[in-house]
Parts: sequence; C-alpha cells; structure tokens
Amino acid sequence: MAQKSISPVLEKKGSFDVDRIRKDFPVLTTTVNGHPLVYLDNAATSQKPKVVIDALSDYYQEYNSNIHRGVHYLSQRATDAYEGSRSRIKKFINARKIEEIIFVRGTTEAINLVAQSFGRTNLQTGDEVLITVLEHHSNIVPWQIICKERGAKLTVVPMTDDGDLKLDEYRSHLSSRTKIVAMAHVSNALGTVNPVREMISMAHEHGIPVLVDGAQAVPHTAVDVQDLGCDFYAFSGHKMYGPTGIGVLYGKEELLDRMPPYQGGGDMIKSVTFEKTIYNDLPHKFEAGTPNISGGIALGVAVDYLNSLDRLAVQAHENSILDYASSQLSSIRGAEIVGRPKKKSSVLSFVLENVHPHDVGTILDSEGIAIRTGHHCAQPIMTRLGIAATARASFALYNTKEEVDALVRGIYKVIEVFGS
Ligand SMILES: Cc1ncc(COP(=O)(O)O)c(C=O)c1O
Repeated sequence: MAQKSISPVLEKKGSFDVDRIRKDFPVLTTTVNGHPLVYLDNAATSQKPKVVIDALSDYYQEYNSNIHRGVHYLSQRATDAYEGSRSRIKKFINARKIEEIIFVRGTTEAINLVAQSFGRTNLQTGDEVLITVLEHHSNIVPWQIICKERGAKLTVVPMTDDGDLKLDEYRSHLSSRTKIVAMAHVSNALGTVNPVREMISMAHEHGIPVLVDGAQAVPHTAVDVQDLGCDFYAFSGHKMYGPTGIGVLYGKEELLDRMPPYQGGGDMIKSVTFEKTIYNDLPHKFEAGTPNISGGIALGVAVDYLNSLDRLAVQAHENSILDYASSQLSSIRGAEIVGRPKKKSSVLSFVLENVHPHDVGTILDSEGIAIRTGHHCAQPIMTRLGIAATARASFALYNTKEEVDALVRGIYKVIEVFGS
C-alpha cells in the first residue's frame, strides 16, 4: 500500500484569507457560554488545523508501530514518516544537518537538556550563566538547578520600564566567566521581540555560545538558525499549530557531539555491555526511549501547513491585529497596556484599574472569550514591574478584528460589573 500523503498543499502562496484559514481549524466553530468562541490564548497553546488532527489519527488507525528497530511494514512506514518529519523541520529552520534536530517534549525539555548536558560538562565554580529578566520560568529554573549543582552564578540582564532589554548592560555582563547565554527570542508575557541576532554576535565576540528560547517566535515568524547564528534553538510544537508533547532542540553539531547524553535507555546506544556503553550517533544520542511518534509526525504536518502559507502575509495580518487591539485598548479609560517595547509580537498584556486580572478573565469567559491571566510563568517580569499579574490576549493567524471588537466589548462589560 502506498504511503498516504500527510503533507497536502493547503493554500496557494502569496495570499492570506483569514476566513478561509479559519475553516482549517475545527474548534473555532465552538460556542462557549452561548457565544461563538473567541480564542485569544494562543501564547499558551495554539489551536490545531484538521490536517494535524488527521495526521495523529491516521498514525493510530493505519500504521501504529514502534520506530527505528522494526523490519516489518508498519514499523518502516512509521519510521519513514517520523524521520521525514525531522527533515522537514531541518529545512523549516534552515539547520545545516539532520543530526542537529533533536526531538524533545517541548521547549522546557530542550532547555533542561542543554542545562544538564552542556551545563554539567562546562560549568565550574565561579562561572556564570547569563539570562535576561524577560525569561519564562523554563529558561530560568533549569539554569538555577545546574548553577547550584556546579557552584556557578546566574546573572540577569535587566530591562527598561517599556520591556526592552538594556543592551549596554548585556554587553557589560559578557566576560570570560560567562559560559553560556540563554534568552527568549520573544517574551511570552510582554511580546518583546529581542534583537537576538545582534545579541548572539556580541556573545560570540567573547566565544560564548547562545541558546535561544524560540517558543513564542517560531509560530509567528520564519526562523533561520544559520542566519541568527545561535548555538541552540528551542521550540514547542503545540504553540505552532502542532500537537502537545513534542518539540525541537536545534543544536550545532560540533557542540552536540561534545555533549554527553541527557538520558540513558533504548535507541540512544550503539552497543551495551555491563562494562561499557557506546552511544548512538546524533540525533539519536539525545533521544532515549520510545519517542512521541505520532506527535513527531504531526509536527511535520504543522510545518507543512505553515510552509503552505505566505508567512510574510501571515505576519502582516498578525501585526495588524496586534496594532488594532493595542489602539482599541488604549482608548479604554482605566485600561493600561503592560509592556510597550520597540518591537512586539502577538501578545497584549494589560491591567484594568481596580479589577483583578482573574476577574477580567472570568467575565470574558462568560462572553466566550478565552484569554490568560496571572504571571504567565514569568514572575520576575511581574516583580520588576511591581504588579502581581496581568490579563493577556495573544493572537494567532486565525484571529480577526471582529474578535478584537468582541474583546473590547467584553472589557467594557468587566468595567460595568466592577463599576470602575
Ligand atoms: C517563552 C516561552 N518559553 C518556554 C515555554 C515553555 O514551553 P513548553 O511548556 O511548551 O515547554 C513557554 C510556554 O509558554 C514560553 O512562552
């Protein structure tokens, strides 16, 4: 039986029709509390197009099997689909080699892998790991753990009140003690787009490798790891229209080659005796045990989905939604936008005078509008700004101006209920 195509061409390049796009996402027709769903929680996780959902069910219905070790038809078909997906991801981020694409559970696991494997072999007492105040907890805690273990120090680049990193301070923190820089490409709490290319080249002037947390960048912009020059790049499938439980760590081959395995087990070995184990080649050295096979395959389909669109047109659409939402919110008395960085992507954090963000979220939910409230796993940002939490609307390619209008009506309802 011929392999069923899992990469249909979905849309002609060079155009962007949001009504047409919305039809690809089955969940968008849902009603919530008697209202059409307005899904504005995309920074937490995006919705999935039907092709991605179908890829998951096709795997289980048609060729469920373990990969890499099987000689039978199903196993070979699953292996081809999984490894095919890896090559599409390599192309998607323009990695040099397939060996540089490690499948992981998500951004969190990717960063933990580097912190544990690179950190354990490269950090000594007195060394420093440089991060920024704009990080998600996933790019703070793994470094804290390894710094504590190795006697190293975590240093932090501060930001302005608008949410821009202070590049002068970044530069002055780079020294021979710095063994790695780890920073977000885009902040999930404020939407700040960091000048990562420039920051990477500053670090490289000192010979310092850089890990970029791309969880909030890959869904919105084309990422070229060679052009950025980063040494590691981490991202999650579920934020870029793929499934949960799958993500990618890109790493330069020469670095990954020198790093010890993160976990031990099946698939990451060439041979095992009780005396000695010879590890497998890249990328398998870092992929112990049965992986998320269906997730890996469906992530390849999410990549195909994004590739089938004109990504510049998608970005222009998302920017127009963000600009529209920002100007609408600015005109609401008592609403304050949190974070006004020079360059921003798809995230609008705000607070309402005298209303707790959780109450904002709850009332909006009663109107069918899904946003996120809280510290967004970025407590140091909240501490820096002297607030406990924000309400956050975050946008994806299927959002519309009409949905922003619904958000604004919802916010007026909140203000009416709380009489502020
Ligand atoms: C900037 C950033 N980094 C890391 C993560 C963690 O991603 P995951 O939970 O998919 O591992 C997130 C999730 O919100 C994020 O926004």
